Order: sequence, then C-alpha cells, then structure tokens
Amino acid sequence: MVNAMYHFPKDFLWGAATASYQVEGNTKNCNWYTWEQAGKIINDQRSNLACDWWGGRWREDFDLASSGGHNAHRFSIEWSRVQPAPDRWDEDAIDRYREMLRGLNERGLTPMVTLHHFTEPLWITEIGSWENQEILPYFERYIQKIVEALKDYTNLWITINEPNILTVSSYILGDFPPGKNNLLSAGKVTANLVRAHAAAHRLIHQIQPNASVGIAHNFHSIKPKRSWSPLDRLSSQVVYSVLNEIFPNALVDGIVRIPFFNIHIPEAKGTQDFFGLNYYTRENIGFSLLRPKELFIRRSHNPQAQLSDTAMIANEPEGFFEAMKWSTKYKLPIIITENGIENADDSLRTSYLAQHIHQLWRAVNYNFPIKGYFHWTLVDNFEWERGWTQRFGLWELDIETQARRKRPSADFYADICGKNGLSSDMVAKYAPAVLGILFP
Ligand code: FCB
Repeated sequence: MVNAMYHFPKDFLWGAATASYQVEGNTKNCNWYTWEQAGKIINDQRSNLACDWWGGRWREDFDLASSGGHNAHRFSIEWSRVQPAPDRWDEDAIDRYREMLRGLNERGLTPMVTLHHFTEPLWITEIGSWENQEILPYFERYIQKIVEALKDYTNLWITINEPNILTVSSYILGDFPPGKNNLLSAGKVTANLVRAHAAAHRLIHQIQPNASVGIAHNFHSIKPKRSWSPLDRLSSQVVYSVLNEIFPNALVDGIVRIPFFNIHIPEAKGTQDFFGLNYYTRENIGFSLLRPKELFIRRSHNPQAQLSDTAMIANEPEGFFEAMKWSTKYKLPIIITENGIENADDSLRTSYLAQHIHQLWRAVNYNFPIKGYFHWTLVDNFEWERGWTQRFGLWELDIETQARRKRPSADFYADICGKNGLSSDMVAKYAPAVLGILFP
C-alpha cells in the first residue's frame, strides 16, 4: 500500500456547523415551533430540548469540537429569542450568545455566525414574513443590533442560510412553514431575501469595516435522468437555474432572473466577500406528469450510488468537486459552510467523509481559493420537517438522556483536523472500503 498524505494549506479552517433551532431546544416564539405543534414534522415529532444548548450544553459540545481537533465553528443566532417582540430586545439572550462566542474564542475555535437560519419570530410571520417588504426594516434593525453587540467576538458572518432552499421548501414544495405552493410568492420572497442580504452586507460593513460577509448557498449537482429526453433536460435546466443560479447571480449583478421576468435590485451588486458553499448530493431530474404538486419534477439518485438512511443523500463526491469548481466563477474566497450525511450507524459516513475531503483536497490543489470546511454536524440534531429521523452528527445524541456518544467519524475527522490533511493510514483505519480509490 502507498503511504501518503494529502496536505491542506496552513490556517485552513476545520469545524462543524450548527443552527439555533436545531440545537437550542424550547425555541417557542418562532414559526417552526408553531409548525411542529401543527403536526407538520414526520411522525409528529417534536424538537423539545433538541441538544439543550439553551440549557447550557453548548459548553459540552464546544469541548467536543475542540477536543476533536476543530479550529472553527459555525452557529446561528435565533432572531425570535433576541427580539421577542418588535419593540423589545432580550438583553439576557444576547448575553448568552456573547458568552457562547467567548466560549468558542477561549477554546481556540474561530466563530462563524449565521444571522438567519430558516427560523423567524412569530411576529414576523404575522406581518407576512418574507412575502412582505415590511420585513426589511425589521431585519435591518435586528442585524444592526446583533452585529453591534457581537462585533468584538467575530468578523465572519453569514447573513442568510440557503435562501434557495428556504424559498423552495417554504413557498414551492410547502415542506417548511408557511407551507405554500405558490410561484408568485416564491418570486417575491427571492427578491426580498436578496434585498435583505444586500442591506445586511452594507450595514455589517458600516459597523465593522473588516467584516467578511456572505451567504451559505446550497449547490445541487443536477443531471437529467434520461439524457436523451428533451423534457428531462428542460426540467433539469429549470431546477438547476432555480436552485443554483438565481440567488448567487443576483448578488453579482443586482438582477434577480426569475423565469419570465427580471427584478432589478442594484444595491445587491457585489455584496459577497466570500462564497459560502453547502454541498450534500447529486440528483437526477426527470419530467413526470404524475407529480403536479412538485411542478412535474421527479427527483432520484444514481441507482449505483450508496444512500443515506432516509435516501435523501447519495454519496456522490464528484458532485462536490463540481460544486467547488462552479463556485470559482464568483471569484471570491470559498468556504465550505456545510457538508455531511445522515447515517445513524456510521457505516457510510467515514467513506463519505474520506471521499469528500479528498475532493476538497483536489480542489485546493487546482488552486481554487478554498479557506475552510464545516462538517454538518457536530452532534445529532433536529432536522426540520424530517425531525429526528436523520442523524448527521459526528457524535450520536440520545434524545432521552441527552448523552453524547462518539461515532468513529468523530475520531476520523479529529485526525484530519489535527494533521491538517488526509493520510492513507487514516483511510486504512477508518474507511478501508475506499482506500483503493483514494490512494491507488
Ligand atoms: C441544510 C440546512 C441545515 C441542515 C442540513 C442537513 O439544508 O442548512 O440546517 O438541516 O441541510
């Protein structure tokens, strides 16, 4: 066997990513809580304590991250906690986030802070959420308040997580609150998210001139199911453009190109300092008359690919390389803000991790300007409408006892972070099934 090591550049960021609603627990003043109460989560599950971060277990989890060799961590602020009503700030909640940031800094973990990760306060839902432009001044006030409060502890900001997924899941597929299937709403929401991001980018730089501000964009590697079929090709082009292109392109030239019309938002031009990239999987897209609710689109995976527990994610590492290569066209530093797989028994995660880190290394060696990698996620958490059925953690969570149990992937990732590289020894130890592929 060859004995080799794929090295990463000095100061490369290695961490895990989390989001407030998914880890804090008892987040009751927000739209997802109401969604849960309405029975919209699979098997009528509830987030309950989640990972109990609001009860203080973030300390334990930051310890896991630092002892696991991480040097960075991405987490989010819960808007509904810090601004429980339009005219009220909860200073204790803000203090708590300050404490968490101090906790990261003390452990040598560079923080990356997401300001909006899918959830919103109920009073925002009541005014019509992202469909109503009135959200914008409120969003700006929230950004201003938080950035002023936390600017001493971080300068790495994500304004909005996955605006594409937020729009599609909430306003086209209806899986996220408010559960709509309305293309007109989706168009309005996209435009308002672009406006909100642009305003946040401007504000953050006013408050903190050395800030680095971006979004976390979810790239889907999309292929037509049957390459000979014009309808499959057309459907996959539409999906590709809606999911992958509309939002990030609008942040380049200030034009939101929604199918059939353009919305001009000039202030959005050039409002990314880095390109935050989330990648999970590749999908085949086919046209199907049987799926009017999904706009006649049928999604599937390559039948040869290994699948995650609920078959949401196929192990398609080349799609990750495609995503990184595609991102280079934005000519910005790139940060991988999420990547991972749901796999409770960890039988597939170590291979997925090895193969994706290998693609990351390839991309770095093509001189793509990649600065860091955040694994989704540290400890199993509440996965939105999929509830607890998906286990993405490097550590397993027992939701009854809150006990964390280390999966082999946590040790594997610790080795990668600690050595700032991926070696044949590590792969032989943790992911022998792919050793021959990665170290031929
Ligand atoms: C992404 C979300 C993140 C998590 C992963 C699995 O789309 O940003 O919160 O749920 O998927």
